[in-house]
Amino acid sequence: MKFPKGFLWGCATSAHQVEGGNMNDWSVWEASPERQVALQAAGKHPEEFLSGAACESYIRDNADIDCLKQLGVKAYRFSIEWSRIEPKRGIFNTEALQHYHQFVLKLRQHGIEPFVTLWHWPVPLWVRDQGGWTSRATADDFAAFTSRVVETFGGDVTHYVTLNEPQVYATNSYLTGEWPPQKKSPWLVFRVIHNLIRGHKRAYDIIKHHRPTAQVGIASHNIHFEEHPPHVLNNLIAKASSWLWNHYFLACIRHKQDYIGVNYYFTNQTHFGSEKKAAEFVSDIGWDLRPDGMYGVLRELGRYKKPVYILEHGLADKDDRHRAWYLKESLAYVHRAIEEGIDVRGYFHWSLLDNFEWAMGFEPRFGLFEVNFQTCERSPRPTVAVYREIIERNGL
Ligand code: FCB
Repeated sequence: MKFPKGFLWGCATSAHQVEGGNMNDWSVWEASPERQVALQAAGKHPEEFLSGAACESYIRDNADIDCLKQLGVKAYRFSIEWSRIEPKRGIFNTEALQHYHQFVLKLRQHGIEPFVTLWHWPVPLWVRDQGGWTSRATADDFAAFTSRVVETFGGDVTHYVTLNEPQVYATNSYLTGEWPPQKKSPWLVFRVIHNLIRGHKRAYDIIKHHRPTAQVGIASHNIHFEEHPPHVLNNLIAKASSWLWNHYFLACIRHKQDYIGVNYYFTNQTHFGSEKKAAEFVSDIGWDLRPDGMYGVLRELGRYKKPVYILEHGLADKDDRHRAWYLKESLAYVHRAIEEGIDVRGYFHWSLLDNFEWAMGFEPRFGLFEVNFQTCERSPRPTVAVYREIIERNGL
């Protein structure tokens, strides 16, 4: 199975999950007495739920580049931390901007195409204090931040991901209340989604203004909604869920995206009148591993008639028992979608490194490279060799 020439093989991380030493709404929430008490009450060790030094990627960026070289990837998706770059409204930290610019240049020196995510969930404290994404002002501030970043990177960055998984953020932070700021209001979800849409559109225009050839999109968290068994009711529910969850945001920004960016982790069954079908394997955190769902998700994206990038896909698997299988099986489905005309241009495995998995702390191990969180040493899991070979062959 050969992939198209120039297919971009990559992997991904995000700033708050790997950098360490961040000061944003998440780090403050992690350390808050309420959060600590809640974790204790649940029988957990609160210290395992502080992002803290994480993988120290901010200071160990060369170690990360070594990992990327070992893999032989052609592209790397990482995010830049808004709170470092703009710690106060309108006050930009040139050192932080230069740091990320240097990192971009290092990637380029090694022939690795940078995919820069501008916002992967945490916000600076001043943004939190103005109501985060519930406030319309945040969309405008995000645009101003974007402008400064794009000016700095100039011609060195072509691929931008403005927002990561707006659906997941809006629901976890404003509906289920699991994530900061722990609100539970459908009205706020709606407001947040629409401010994110506004933020994306403004950022899109700004990026294109500075750099007309840039390729700009979002990373949408798409789920394969499967009817099991197929019948009218299940079909209706699957279609409605897919419209709302997978396509609402993408459709709203339809004319302001150059590619469709998608993260695939879940297949959800609508199974009225029957038992859920069990998956062959599940990950360490109980997520069904359904490589076939990748095909379902990609096929639905044909309607946009744009290039597609799979910007995240992976699993928590500390002992690397299922990772190579899951990778290969899923890629076979990517290949099938390409053969059927879906213009998939790249695949980014989540994640390069074990990292801070949000409210789940450090326990889930998503890394191709294992991280020793005492020493920050990175060591390859066996799947590194498997992925490397796929990349070398440009296929399976
Ligand atoms: C995605 C997130 C990413 C990581 C993976 C496991 O939803 O974008 O940061 O947490 O899940």
